[in-house]
Amino acid sequence: MAHQNLAQQRLLIKGGKVVNDDRSVVADVYVEDGVVRQVGPNLNPEPPTGLVVLDATNKLVIPGGIDTHTHMQFPFMGSRSKDDFYTGTKAAIAGGTTMIIDFAIPQKGCSLTEAFDTWKSWADPKVCCDYALHVAVTWWSNKVKEEMKSLVQNKGVNSFKMFMAYKDVYMVNDEELYAAFSCCKELGAVAQVHAENGELIAQGAKKMLAMGITGPEGHELCRPEEVEAEATQRAITIANAVNCPLFVVHVMSKSAARVISNARREGKVVYGEPIAASLGTDGTNYWNKDWAHAAAYVMGPPLRPDPSTPGFLMNLLANDDLSVTGTDNCTFDICQKALGKDDFTKIPNGVNGVEDRMSVIWEKGVYSGKMDENRFVAVTSTNAAKIFNLYPKKGRIAVGSDADIVIWDPKATRTISAKTHHQANNFNIFEGMVCHGVPVATISRGKVVYEGGAFNVTAGEGKYVSRPPFPPYVYKRVRQREQVCQPVPVKRAPYTGLVSATSITP
Ligand code: URP
Ligand code: ZN
Ligand code: ZN
Ligand code: ZN
Repeated sequence: MAHQNLAQQRLLIKGGKVVNDDRSVVADVYVEDGVVRQVGPNLNPEPPTGLVVLDATNKLVIPGGIDTHTHMQFPFMGSRSKDDFYTGTKAAIAGGTTMIIDFAIPQKGCSLTEAFDTWKSWADPKVCCDYALHVAVTWWSNKVKEEMKSLVQNKGVNSFKMFMAYKDVYMVNDEELYAAFSCCKELGAVAQVHAENGELIAQGAKKMLAMGITGPEGHELCRPEEVEAEATQRAITIANAVNCPLFVVHVMSKSAARVISNARREGKVVYGEPIAASLGTDGTNYWNKDWAHAAAYVMGPPLRPDPSTPGFLMNLLANDDLSVTGTDNCTFDICQKALGKDDFTKIPNGVNGVEDRMSVIWEKGVYSGKMDENRFVAVTSTNAAKIFNLYPKKGRIAVGSDADIVIWDPKATRTISAKTHHQANNFNIFEGMVCHGVPVATISRGKVVYEGGAFNVTAGEGKYVSRPPFPPYVYKRVRQREQVCQPVPVKRAPYTGLVSATSITP
């Protein structure tokens, strides 16, 4: 096999604390051809020539982050998100993330396979780290069903997102949700929902505009927490009715998080994904006097004005009521946001996060004392890898795993700023946040792609990662329930008495 970078096919990470979701151990890590070959004390791989050695003394060696939710170069709301698959994945690796899962989203009536091929053609020449694609189901027909099957069986897709909001654009109704969830269950896929009541949002927006509320605060006011919580509850109820595992994307409110937490306690197979934004900042920004500042935080579902929301979501994440973290990275600059300067419904929805997620979670989760380093790994990579069937290739440092690794300095700090970030956007929703926990080096498939602030990566080096159906972590319980938890008819002797002979005519 030819190697673009011969010098880096063999790598030794020395003296760090290797952190997986279940334990931490001081060990060296030896990597060859992109795969972890040995983990143990005092490794001395031969020959010493041509070996890249990284010193990780007093540092943590963690699996690279997996961001379960991004929208790079997404054509949306009359614009296109600024971070493309190049700047977006470059920013990812600068922040310690080595894999993203983006969304291929067809218009209503359009082919899912074509959407998948389009997004893949955008990503392949540009990605700097590995990636996969969820596919959205925005309408329903037999063709959609056939395409879902083919995407699962031929294209390595094992998750589909359904929108309960964006009326007339992406929104599907309960009947369509039922059909899509049933199909996911048959195929061994994970159903994802954007949980907001799209009808209530449409009505609420009209009401706000009629009241003269045209600014970004109207975006939150027309879709308060219960709009998110109601849809979350409805999605869980429908998914449970067909025994389909459910993944609730971008959990933004305490109310919706409580619904998920309760459902998990009732034994339902449901997972919640808070994002860097909902864990790191809040919706008070919508009331900022500076329009551009307020608009920069507009996303759906919105950030919540209750300032205790981020801490609450972090508590639930620490205790496994919530399971995974993404970012919903979908950046629009101020000029793009200004499409809605006179009408908040026209502000393109989306915020940044792909570069900041790991540091924000370390700061608010680990530094604060809410979670330990192992839980940090669980919620930033391992759980995502398990749910989307990438484990233990991704989300673990062990012999045979892909060498997607980050050397993490838990003591170092950095201040997040649009002036220094690598994202294409000119605004950062975490501006000024001081974070402990800094990625010193990021390794993608055994190559040091980022070290000490410098990149060594070219567009297209990342790879598309296929995800097989029926992730055991999710589907073992589903399959068992399918076998033993079906209702059965009561065996009884047939009724032999009289049956009323009269029929009533109106
Ligand atoms: O505001 C958001 N979330 N933009 C991206 C589209 C979506 O709903 O995930
Ligand atoms: Zn080789
Ligand atoms: Zn969404
Ligand atoms: Zn999204």
